Amino acid sequence: MADSFAWATEAFIAGQWRPAADGKRFPVSDPATGAILAEVADCSALDAEAAIDAAHTAFSAWAARPAQNRSAILRRWRDLIVDKADALAAVLTAENGKPLAEARGEILYGASYLEWFAEEALRLNGDVIPSASPNNRILVIKQPVGVCAAITPWNFPNAMLMRKAAAALASGCTLVAKPAEDTPLSGLAVARLADEAGVPAGVFNVVPTSRPAQVGAVMTGDDRVRKISFTGSTGVGKKLLEQSASTVKRASMELGGNAPFLVFADADLDTAVEGAMASKFRNAGQTCVCANRLLVDRSILPEFAQRLADRAAALKVGPGIEDGVEIGPLINEAAVRKVERLVAEARDAGARMSAGGRRHAAGPLFFEPTVLESVTPDMAVVREEIFGPVAPLIGFDTEDEAVRLANDTPFGLAAYVYTRDLGRAFRVGEGLEYGMVGVNEGILSSAAAPFGGVKQSGFGREGSHLGLDDYVNVKYMLMGGLGA
Ligand code: SIN
Repeated sequence: MADSFAWATEAFIAGQWRPAADGKRFPVSDPATGAILAEVADCSALDAEAAIDAAHTAFSAWAARPAQNRSAILRRWRDLIVDKADALAAVLTAENGKPLAEARGEILYGASYLEWFAEEALRLNGDVIPSASPNNRILVIKQPVGVCAAITPWNFPNAMLMRKAAAALASGCTLVAKPAEDTPLSGLAVARLADEAGVPAGVFNVVPTSRPAQVGAVMTGDDRVRKISFTGSTGVGKKLLEQSASTVKRASMELGGNAPFLVFADADLDTAVEGAMASKFRNAGQTCVCANRLLVDRSILPEFAQRLADRAAALKVGPGIEDGVEIGPLINEAAVRKVERLVAEARDAGARMSAGGRRHAAGPLFFEPTVLESVTPDMAVVREEIFGPVAPLIGFDTEDEAVRLANDTPFGLAAYVYTRDLGRAFRVGEGLEYGMVGVNEGILSSAAAPFGGVKQSGFGREGSHLGLDDYVNVKYMLMGGLGA
């Protein structure tokens, strides 16, 4: 265990570390070994209410602080996180399973949102609009929406929380965060550093729980919570939206994806294979934006498939703390079962395995990096979000067909296009019904960019200069009596 500072296991409410009100705890385990890492406070509705009380009480003073002050605190929080990156990465790998280098990358990625929004806090500018009357001016100001709730996923337990917390706190909102039950330790670890950085009591609260429905119901039902930001499955997102309707809350939803990865015959094949490896196998394929199906021009499909299969078969699979490991375990048994089912159904329907295809010998939750050929668009492995290290390949003959196949899904988070034809890059990029498109790039995440989807992948944008919009209300003030 790297650094004992990081292993916080109580809920963080009103600046205090508290056990759950009913005393319950739940175990968090290492997916690589099955070992129990910690017993964490299991928050119920009572704790969620206490956290909302704290966030509500803290809100007006936090909102009233000069932006410069909020910015300086966020920057201090960022510096502490960067300073403790190794210890935080060890916690992340232990509870999530991803390779240590990737975990460290995630910690720095998460910290980059604090840096970004510490700057954006200073630019929460309004407008002065000329009025038709010489007596008036139209003023537009931006004000924090109030108490926000964040529900964050297990696949990026640090970065997804930081992306929401940084934007919320920068704009003057206070936050109650519910981390995923598989990975609560990373969220609690950063809470400790928030406290150290001078984030005032009640401004940032973390309520771990194995009873997400109970806590989610309080977050969505309480009228004092003015916004909910969720990253997770489309099914849960729909439920949260339904529940939030009763209090007409603002919402940002970063939901499931089914990213197409298009490779045209004119693409640089080395770059395309490299991009596919990065996009598909990052976090063992457990990212919302990872390539879910690879659509490849039929004329280059055999060569692309061979190269991808060779690279996939050479990936080192094992516990994330071991040197050189590139693929860790999947998060839990249900995740492995889903991947097994999708691969088995594809095989039974005629797909051919050119790499992998089974659980890996490293342990019960490890799955072999897998490449599937002779895949057809109707297979479940193409229609569902895989969330595992499986790359199904589909051939296409024309640009129109490629775009049609790519758009043939209710989802619209991320897509990738590989081509050296600039006209095609624009045509296809603009034709894809997705919130984000990587052209000749397999990883598109950046604090400077607007992250988010369309269709059933959700709405709202996180990161970039647009990232504060979801956390502020626009207020129009008509300034009258200005004439002589
Ligand atoms: C996600 O999987 O939802 C996030 C990935 C990222 O921010 O890069």
